[in-house]
Amino acid sequence: MELSARKRRILADMGIPIWRARDGAFPGLPAAVPAADPPAAPLMPEVESAQAPGAPSETSGPLVSPADVPVEGGVAALDWPELEARVRDCTACAELAAQRTQTVFGVGDRRARWLFVGEAPGAEEDRRGEPFVGRAGQLLDSMLAALGLDRRQDVFIANVLKCRPPNNRDPSPDESRACRGFLDRQIELVQPEVIVALGRIAAQHLLGTDQPLGRMRGSLHRYREVPLVVTYHPAYLLRKPQDKAKAWQDLQRARACLTSAPGG
Ligand code: URA
Repeated sequence: MELSARKRRILADMGIPIWRARDGAFPGLPAAVPAADPPAAPLMPEVESAQAPGAPSETSGPLVSPADVPVEGGVAALDWPELEARVRDCTACAELAAQRTQTVFGVGDRRARWLFVGEAPGAEEDRRGEPFVGRAGQLLDSMLAALGLDRRQDVFIANVLKCRPPNNRDPSPDESRACRGFLDRQIELVQPEVIVALGRIAAQHLLGTDQPLGRMRGSLHRYREVPLVVTYHPAYLLRKPQDKAKAWQDLQRARACLTSAPGG
C-alpha cells in the first residue's frame, strides 16, 4: 500500500525505515518493527541498553506491589472532579507547591485503552497545565500518530508528579511517594488495557523497582493486573534518535496487549 506523505513524515520522524514497513493490522502503518536493532545505533551505556540476554519475556510483577503502598490523603474513593480538585489544591511538597504555576493533572480520554505515564511536568507543561506539550511532547504525539492515536481521544497521558520539579531535576523519593495516590487513582479510574511507562523514572515508580531501563525494556510487566510496557522517554529519544526504532518495537509490544481489535 502506498503511504501518504503525512504517514511517511511520521514514520521518518519515528526513525522507522519506510522500506521495511509492512501493511498489517493497521493499514498504512508498519505491522512489525524492523527485525533487528537499527544498524546505525551506537553502543549505549548499560543503563539504556536492550534487555539482558535470557531475561524472561514477561515478568511476574512489581517487586513492591503498588497495592501495598498506602494511598496518600485518602484519594482512593474520589471521582474525577474530586481527584482533579485534590491535585489542584495539593501542597504536600512545599517546594513544588510554592514554585509551580499550576498543577498538571493529565490529558486525554478518561476511559482510554492506552495510558502513558511520564515523569513530571517541565517548564512548558507548568505554563500550559498539560503534560508533554514541549519538544518531547511533539515527539510523543508523532509516536501516537504512528499508532493511529490522538492524545485527546485515544489515550490518557499522566505523570508521576503533578508539579514541576525546579530546574527539571528528578523527582525525589518523597515527592514521588506523596504523589503516588493520585496516579494510582487515575489508573483505577481509567482502567486502561495497557500502560506505557515513558522512561526510567516512571517505570521504576510503577513497578516498585530500581532496575535500570535497559533491564525493564523488552519484557512485559504488570501494574496490578494491567500489562505494562517500558520504553524510552521521548526526551531521551530527542537526544538519541537512533533508538526510536527500539521505541517503536516497544509500542508494538504494547499494542499487542490490547484485548480487542483496535478501534473495536
Ligand atoms: N516530560 C515528562 O516526563 N512529562 C511531561 O509532561 C513533560 C516532559
